[in-house]
Amino acid sequence: MTPPVTVTVTGAAGSIGYSLLFRTGAGQLLGSDTPVRLRLLEIPSAVRVAEGVAMELDDCAFPLLDSVDIFDDPRQAFEGANVGLLVGARPRGKGMERADLLQANGAIFAPQGRAINDAAADDVRILVVGNPANSNALIAASNAPDVPKERFSAMTRLDHNRAIAQLAKHAGVHQSQVRRMSIWGNHSTTQYPDVFHALAGDRTGAELAQDAAWLEHDFIPTVARRGAAIIEARGASSQASAADAAIDHVRDWFGGTPSGDWTSAAVWSTGHYGVPDGLMCSFPVTSDGKGWTVVDGLEHGPFSQARIDASIAELVEEREAVRALGLI
Ligand code: NAD
Ligand code: LMR
Repeated sequence: MTPPVTVTVTGAAGSIGYSLLFRTGAGQLLGSDTPVRLRLLEIPSAVRVAEGVAMELDDCAFPLLDSVDIFDDPRQAFEGANVGLLVGARPRGKGMERADLLQANGAIFAPQGRAINDAAADDVRILVVGNPANSNALIAASNAPDVPKERFSAMTRLDHNRAIAQLAKHAGVHQSQVRRMSIWGNHSTTQYPDVFHALAGDRTGAELAQDAAWLEHDFIPTVARRGAAIIEARGASSQASAADAAIDHVRDWFGGTPSGDWTSAAVWSTGHYGVPDGLMCSFPVTSDGKGWTVVDGLEHGPFSQARIDASIAELVEEREAVRALGLI
């Protein structure tokens, strides 16, 4: 057994929290030899619900779950955190874009960034799930000046997994045979899921992308608009698939990405691929277990580059909006 890891989860009484916490307690986040101490953060009016979730966690008698504590104060919730899963934020409803949440949700992430700065463990790693995830991660990271920026990331793993599933269907292979998928840019409808560098069984994505009608009118919009399609169908935003993606993200960040493959995550840009410094932009990334590294040397044709540029332009606009709100 390794020493216990302290995991702070915000929005613990919410939908994603409900899926995420039991899988975390069962050892799926950090592996079957790592005990977990859970620290749950909620707003005061939802603390009672979080207490109910904690009662259920108790009732699972998980061998790897050391403790569950509940807080309504970010400073206390992030005390000693090695991992922070920032889920707590309002989800969008039908007809909304994720950026519409910026004003409502952005303000949550500045105090949480400060709390992480002041209270978390020196090795803390943060995954932002709450939307608009890229800009919320930017706000949290900007308000935590003592924490290295590479310890913050925002979740585009759900988009990545969606893209794998869609490409596998198109190629007629099992999703386990799809590798090297990449999500570029923002977790929004401007995101660019790149098939050109992917592999599906023994076929290259570039070969599959020759079906231009499928690429432009089916694959890209299906992946980019999947969140809205789920809201339309369920009347609520994705829950279990989002929790699953968060587990995948953290597991790969700590455990490493498989050799010969990569994943996607939004990380702090230091100028990779011409993306302006200091944007939380999704890239193809690998992990050696210690941190993310952006995959270098991928070349894009004009079709891909125009779409990546559009998503980066949207991230720049969101950063301006966040600045105007005084959050960074
Ligand atoms: P939800 O409304 O069911 O739960 C959100 C929870 O957050 C609530 O319990 C609420 O009380 C809590 N909360 C609100 N403000 C808080 C604060 N300041 N501190 C702590 N907790 C707070 O929503 P959900 O379905 O669980 O979704 C949560 C967020 O995740 C939404 O913003 C949603 O859009 C986003 N999301 C992102 C992805 C992604 O791929 N990045 C995927 C799915 C959902
Ligand atoms: C998703 O992609 O499912 C989430 O970001 C929820 C949403 O608003 O689309």
